[in-house]
Amino acid sequence: MTKKLYLETHGCQMNVHDSEKASYALAGAGYELTSIPTEADLILLNTCMVREKAARKVYSRIGELKRQHVEKSPSTGLPIFGVMGCVAQAEADRMFDRNKDIRLVLGTQAIGKLPELVSQLEDGFSRAIDIRLTKNAEFFELDADVRKTEHVAFITITEGCNKFCSFCIVPFTRGRERSRSADKIVAEAKSLAEHGFKEVHLLGQNVNSYGLSGLYHGNSVNEEADVLGEVTFAKLLERVAKESGLPRIKFTTSYPRDFDEQIVKVIDEHENLCEWIHLPAQSGSNRILRAMRRGYTREEYLHKIAAIKNAKKDLAITGDMIVGFPGETEEDFNETLSLAAETEYDGLYIFKYSPRPNTPAAAYTDSIPEEVKTERFLKLQELQMRIQAQRYGRYVNRTVEVLVEGESARSPEDCFGHTRCNKVVNFPAPKHLIGSLVNVKVTQAKNHSLYGHLV
Ligand code: SAH
Ligand code: F3S
Repeated sequence: MTKKLYLETHGCQMNVHDSEKASYALAGAGYELTSIPTEADLILLNTCMVREKAARKVYSRIGELKRQHVEKSPSTGLPIFGVMGCVAQAEADRMFDRNKDIRLVLGTQAIGKLPELVSQLEDGFSRAIDIRLTKNAEFFELDADVRKTEHVAFITITEGCNKFCSFCIVPFTRGRERSRSADKIVAEAKSLAEHGFKEVHLLGQNVNSYGLSGLYHGNSVNEEADVLGEVTFAKLLERVAKESGLPRIKFTTSYPRDFDEQIVKVIDEHENLCEWIHLPAQSGSNRILRAMRRGYTREEYLHKIAAIKNAKKDLAITGDMIVGFPGETEEDFNETLSLAAETEYDGLYIFKYSPRPNTPAAAYTDSIPEEVKTERFLKLQELQMRIQAQRYGRYVNRTVEVLVEGESARSPEDCFGHTRCNKVVNFPAPKHLIGSLVNVKVTQAKNHSLYGHLV
C-alpha cells in the first residue's frame, strides 16, 4: 500500500532542491506526495532560519497541522511529524521536548537516511534523529527523471559555507563547504538537458568558491579536480556551458570576495550563460562590513560591480542588504543607500538584522532599536523602488526570451515565466506553450514584473 507524504518547504532554492531529494528518498520507501496534509501518513516541514522567530513558527505550524488532522479524522492515529532543514539542524533534540508530536528531526546532511529513520518510526520507535555534520559528507545524487520541479532544475555544486559572516547561521546549519565533482555536475546538466529541461540553476551558499575547499569525488575520481583550486567556478561554468546542451544556465549565490572577472568573461563568451548575477553586498559601510566579517570593502565590491557593468552582455544584478546591524550609525546607513544607488540593483532583498543563536553578532551589545531598523528598511526600499522602476523600464519595447513556466496567478488568459535576466514576465499565451522558450515584446514595466505579448 502506498503511504502519503505531505512536504512543506520554506526558504531558499537549496531547500526546494532538498525537498525534491527527500521526496525521492521516501518514494523508495513507498511514500507518494500529497498536497492535502490531512490525508498524510508522514508530514515533513523543511525549515528556514533566515526569517525571524523561525523555530517558533515551526512549532505553531505543527500544532495547526495536528488540529486539522484531529478535526478531520478524530478516530485515526496521528501522522508522523518530522522537521528537516536549518531549524532541525540548529534546534536538534530540543525539538522533541518543545513539541511532543515531533517524532523525526533530520539534519541538513541526513536526507539519505530518511527511509531508514522513517522505517524505524513505522516499526514503533517513538523518535528518530540524525543531525550529524561531517567535513566530507557525501552529496545526495538526484537523477533527472525523478525531479519535482518543472522546466527549471536545480543542480547542487557546493554545500555548506566556510565564511562565517558574523550574522549568519548557515555555517552552523549546513556545515563545512564541500564541492561536488565537476564530472558529476556536468553529467547531471547533460542529463537534465536530455530530459527536456530548458534552464538549470547551479546552487551553493557561495558558488564562486567552488573547488577551493573539500572537493568530493564520489565514486568516480575526477582526475582534473584532484588538486583543490584547479577547477575554479569559472572553469566549471565554462564546462557546463560547453558540454551540457542546456539553453539557459543561471547560478546563485555569488560572494563578492570570491567573484572574479574571469566569471564575467566566461558569461560573455557563452550564449547559454544567462544575464543575471546575484551578488549580495549586505552593507555599504566599510565599518559594518568589517563587523560582519565579510572580507571585502565597499570599494572592492564596487570594483566587481564595475566589471559586471563592463561586460559585453547587459547583465542584471540583484543583491541582499541587511539594515540595522549592531552599531550601524546613520552615516553607515547612508553608505548603504549610496552603494545601492551606485550599483543600481535590478532587485534587492532587504532584511532587518535579527540575531541568530550562536553567531558572533548575536553577542554584540550595540543593537539598533526596532523602529530605526524599520525606518531604514523603508528608506532603502523606497530608493530601490525608484531604481527598479528605471531598471525594469529599460526593457519596455525590447523583445526578451521567456521560459514559459505556467498559468499566471492573476489571469487565466495569461502565462508567466522568467527572462534570462531572471525577471518575471506575464503575457497572454495558449497553455500548450508552457515549458517552451518564447520571445515576448515588453509593453509595460511594473514594480516587480514585466508585461508584454508574444512575437
Ligand atoms: N550565501 C547564502 C546566504 C544565506 S542567508 C545564499 O546563498 O543566499 C540569505 C540572506 O539572508 C543573506 O544574504 C542576508 O542578507 C540575510 N541574512 C542572513 N542572516 C541574517 C540575519 N541574522 N539577520 C538578517 N538578515 C540575515
Ligand atoms: Fe552566510 Fe556569509 Fe556563508 S552570509 S552563507 S556565512 S557567505
